[in-house]
Amino acid sequence: EWTMAGFRAAKIEEIRQQVGSAKVICGLSGGVDSSVAAVLIHEAIGDQLTCVYVDHGLMRAGESEQVVSLFRNHYNIPLVHVNAETLFLNGLAGVTDPEAKRKFIGKTFIEVFEEEAKKIGGAQFLAQGTLYPDVIESVSFSGGPSVTIKSHHNVGGLPERMDLKLVEPLRELFKDEVRLLGKELGLTDAFVGRHPFPGPGLAIRIPGEVTKERCDILRKADAIYLEEIRNAGLYDAIWQAFAVLLPVRTVGVMGDHRTYDSVCGLRAVTSVDGMTADVYPFDAAFLSRVATRIVNEVQGINRVVYDYTSKPPGTIEWE
Ligand code: XMP
Repeated sequence: EWTMAGFRAAKIEEIRQQVGSAKVICGLSGGVDSSVAAVLIHEAIGDQLTCVYVDHGLMRAGESEQVVSLFRNHYNIPLVHVNAETLFLNGLAGVTDPEAKRKFIGKTFIEVFEEEAKKIGGAQFLAQGTLYPDVIESVSFSGGPSVTIKSHHNVGGLPERMDLKLVEPLRELFKDEVRLLGKELGLTDAFVGRHPFPGPGLAIRIPGEVTKERCDILRKADAIYLEEIRNAGLYDAIWQAFAVLLPVRTVGVMGDHRTYDSVCGLRAVTSVDGMTADVYPFDAAFLSRVATRIVNEVQGINRVVYDYTSKPPGTIEWE
């Protein structure tokens, strides 16, 4: 009989066999997949594993702190936290094209990771939280034959360049199975149930130029939206929900004066695998509450709109 406990034990044995006494480095993204992979590998080989968290400064409010504290304090897994916010924001200055943003972030991510891996030194393996759908998607992404809608951000090419062998213990699993494995390994429901988050982070939720100021504005609006979703008990019914900050300013009125500020878009979808998605049908009172809070509490936003586009023809992210 197949059980998750059995899978865990078998994988631990397999990882030990594969790795022997060699050093392994693992790139953490803050997401569920790489975290579960890291915890599993740490259980197998202990401090032969070092995790590297390249923090591009494009994470949601409080997220980097949560990841760092989970690994260092809760699991006691060696973790290098690289704060590369300035490097990323400087490189993104003046960049408005969505593909150019994705390419810059992907390339810079690999460069920073590689530099850190060299500093650690002596690693022979690179661990990744690759899932079964990732294995298939690299063959045919977005359902279409050889049409790349968006270039995805991963560490492709890095293993060859650094002459590292791959450790990918989640390759046979689907997302829901990774969540179960995470729970088996002691991660909380709240952690393993987190919505997916794209590698390029908030940069692709800020159409137009990405600046520190706009990231901060978006983080505030996004945190309010997610807080209301959690309070309403809707978080687990939604595949992904997030705010976007538009490069459009509109006129509004606050008290007795005129405002001229940015528009915030809200997105929430249901989906099975991210390949297709339906709009989540919030009730009007919920959306009004979120809109009111965002306009009142976030300086720089004076209008909130809800995205009513399914995928296809829209995509989930805006860029
Ligand atoms: P789209 O916007 O293409 O997104 O409908 C489908 C799913 O993929 C996520 N996404 C990414 N995930 N790196 C990732 O790891 C990326 O570059 C990336 N771009 C989009 C998106 O959040 C959604 O869940």
